[in-house]
Amino acid sequence: MTQNAQHHAYHTVEQAQINLRGRFKEADISTYELDARVLTGFALSLDDIGLIKHASRSVTEQENKILEKVCLARLEGKPVSRIIGVKEFYSLPFHISPATLDPRPDSECLVDSALNAAEKLAKSKSKPLKVLDLGTGSGCLLIAFAHACKQRAIQVKGLGVDISANALRQARINAAINGVSDSVNFRQSDWFENVSSRFDIIISNPPYISSGEIEALAPEVSKYDSKTALDGGTDGLDAYRNIISNIMSFIQPGGCVLFEIGSEQAALVTNLVRQVIVTPPQVTISHVSDLSGLNRVVQVEFDINS
Ligand SMILES: C[S@@+](CC[C@H](N)C(=O)[O-])C[C@H]1O[C@@H](n2cnc3c(N)ncnc32)[C@H](O)[C@@H]1O
Repeated sequence: MTQNAQHHAYHTVEQAQINLRGRFKEADISTYELDARVLTGFALSLDDIGLIKHASRSVTEQENKILEKVCLARLEGKPVSRIIGVKEFYSLPFHISPATLDPRPDSECLVDSALNAAEKLAKSKSKPLKVLDLGTGSGCLLIAFAHACKQRAIQVKGLGVDISANALRQARINAAINGVSDSVNFRQSDWFENVSSRFDIIISNPPYISSGEIEALAPEVSKYDSKTALDGGTDGLDAYRNIISNIMSFIQPGGCVLFEIGSEQAALVTNLVRQVIVTPPQVTISHVSDLSGLNRVVQVEFDINS
């Protein structure tokens, strides 16, 4: 054990949690309470109830070492999800790795919008809805969507694509964990390159940060999320440009495309759609805002005759 770990020897489960809480608070980590609970539970293999039930249990030397390791990782700025390898999204667990973006609560807005679209489209369809997720990463959007559709008895056949084979490995595991492997598949593809059919719903949260802005992001993002997941090129719009210029070959008449966007990008992405789809009656474009009122989704509904 190192000098530092000895200094922080935790005698009981409760003392361990109190110690972590104090050190995180001192380091100005705003979520110090939650982080201490999650990381103590992770290090000691106890869930929330276990932490209470076994509060006075002694902590072994081996456990002390693990506690110290996870505590120091958090103090160095590593996000809790990156330490424990799991993130909750849409109330479901998602395994993450260095190849996947850490799923963001902001992206739940896109899943809600896709569900609204699915509920509308399912009324006029007897076959399962075909859904494509471009840049699927951990698979969180498509899997949460498929899971919610299952609960609503909406039949879907989903395809998630990503350029990263490592991300796709996580997505497949996440589909299995969340019980939707029967309705979603994953494939390696550079956007539409290995995609050959048309879809009722296309969703995408592509990389949309301007290359020059990445280094200035919080270290929890710039240091731990992969550049492939963040970098949207010089103006942040490269992926949208690529996807939108091909969209007419992959969307079904009457279908719906939903993009997550950076909070300042609604007008820019809308303009890109308008430039490509030149006859305005063909599409209805709308914006969906998140709980704090920021535009987070651009929705493009295609006319049935488009
Ligand atoms: C912002 S992340 C979104 C991940 C996930 N959908 C989410 O919402 O958490 C963008 C994803 O696009 C993928 N990506 C980047 N360039 C790509 C390309 N040319 N073709 C396909 N996927 C790409 C990245 O690997 C990453 O998984």
